[in-house]
Amino acid sequence: MDRIRIVGGRPLKGSIPISGAKNATLPLMIASLLTDQTLILDNVPRLADVSLLQRILSNHGVDMMVPGKRPGESQQNGHTIHIVASRIVDTTAPYDLVSKMRASFWVIAPLVARMGEAKVSMPGGCAIGTRPVDLLIMALEKLGAKIEIDGGYVIARAKDGLKGGEIKFPKVTVSGTHTALMAAVLARGTTVIENAAQEPEIGDVADCLNKMGARISGIGTSRLIIEGVTRLGGARHSVLPDRIETGTYAMAVAMTGGDVLLEGARPELLQSALDVLAQTGTEVSATNEGIRIKRNGAGISPVDVTTDPFPGFPTDLQAQLMALMTMAKGTSRITETIFENRFMHVQELARLGARIALDGQTAVVTGVDKLRGAPVMATDLRASVGLVIGALAAEGETMVNRVYHLDRGFERLEDKLGACGAAIERVSG
Ligand code: UD1
Repeated sequence: MDRIRIVGGRPLKGSIPISGAKNATLPLMIASLLTDQTLILDNVPRLADVSLLQRILSNHGVDMMVPGKRPGESQQNGHTIHIVASRIVDTTAPYDLVSKMRASFWVIAPLVARMGEAKVSMPGGCAIGTRPVDLLIMALEKLGAKIEIDGGYVIARAKDGLKGGEIKFPKVTVSGTHTALMAAVLARGTTVIENAAQEPEIGDVADCLNKMGARISGIGTSRLIIEGVTRLGGARHSVLPDRIETGTYAMAVAMTGGDVLLEGARPELLQSALDVLAQTGTEVSATNEGIRIKRNGAGISPVDVTTDPFPGFPTDLQAQLMALMTMAKGTSRITETIFENRFMHVQELARLGARIALDGQTAVVTGVDKLRGAPVMATDLRASVGLVIGALAAEGETMVNRVYHLDRGFERLEDKLGACGAAIERVSG
C-alpha cells in the first residue's frame, strides 16, 4: 500500500493548476445514462473515483473512450472523455461495486427514468456517518416510482415512465437534489424541487443537462423547475474547477506561509472559505489567472466556523481548516453540522502534537507553537488531506499511511505540492 512521506517546514511558492471538480465529474458521468447519444466531458480529473465509476457504468453497458494525449497537451490538463450509453444492458448495480463508492447509488435515477426500472444496492455504512438514502427514495416516489427494498437492494419501477411532481426536501441534500434532477428531466410534465441544494456542482450538472436538451430553470437557486422532455441528446461540457481542491491548497499555503497562485480557481465557488482564510490573516486576491494566496511572517489568527450547505463553509474543507487552526495564535471552534461523525482526523492530528478537544459536534482547537512529524493514518478523503496540511508545517518527517483515500479525490497531490517546494514523496509498496 502506498504511503506519502513529508518533511515539514518549507513555505509553498509557485503555482498550482486546479483540476476539474470530482463532485461534478461523477454525476456528469452518471448523467450519460440518460441518453443514447455521446456525452463529451472536458477537464475531467484523473482520479481513482473516476476510474471506479467508469467500471461501474461499463457494467450497465456504457462505453467510454479516453483519447490519447494530443501534441502540446501536458499532464497538467484534465482529460477529455467520450461516454456513450447507446444501449443499457443491465439495470442492476451490484453490491460489490456500489459499496466502493457511495455516489454510484445515484445511477438509480437515470436508469429508472430511461429504462423504467433499476435495482441498486444500498450503499452501506460509510466512515463519515450513516449517510442514508431515504430522501433519494422519497424524491423518486414523488415522481411516481414504486420502490421496494429487497435483499439490500433498492428496486425502483416506473413501467409507464416517471411523472412530474413536487419534491420538497426537509433538509438540504446534494445526493437528493442530483437524484431528483436526473429523474425529473425525462418525467412527463413539470417537476418543482424545493429546498434544493445550491452547491455549484449541481448547477454544473444542470447546465450540462440543458445542453443535452433538458429544460431546467432556477439553476443556482433553492427552487429548481424542470419541464420534462421525452428524450435527451448528446452534448459537450467542460467540468467546473474543484472548489475543494482550491480551498485545500489555499489552506496549505496559509499553514506553511508562502505565495501561491491557484490557477484556474474561481473565487465565487468558495467565497465563504476565502473569507475565513482572510480572517486568519492570509492574503487572498482574485487575479485573471485564478486566486493568489499569500502569508508572510505574521501568525495565524484563530476563527470560529460552522459548516453549512452552500454558500456556507463546506464540510469538505472542515478537516483542512482544523489542521490550519492547530497552529493558530489562540483557540478556535469548528462546528460540524452536515455529518455526525466527521472528526476522525482529530486523533491523527493529535499525533502531530495538536491540542483538540471535542464537545459534541464542536471541536475546540487550541493553537500550539509547533507540530512534530509522526506516522499517521488517513481515514477518509478530506481527513487525509488535512493530515497532509498538518505534516507540511510539522517539524521532521510524517508518514501518511493509507493514501488510497487521497488518490480518490486529489489529482497528483504530491507533484502539485512538490512543484511549490514541499518535501513530499510517494513511497510505493
Ligand atoms: C455530497 C458530496 C460530499 C459532501 C456532501 C455535503 C459528492 C459526490 N459528495 O455528498 O463530498 O461532503 O455532499 O456537501 O458530491 N441525508 C439524509 N438522507 C438522504 C440523503 C442525505 O439524511 O437520503 C443526509 C446525510 O446523511 C447528510 C446530509 O443529508 O447528513 C447531507 O448529505 P448530502 O448533501 O446528500 O451529501 P452527499 O450527496 O452524500
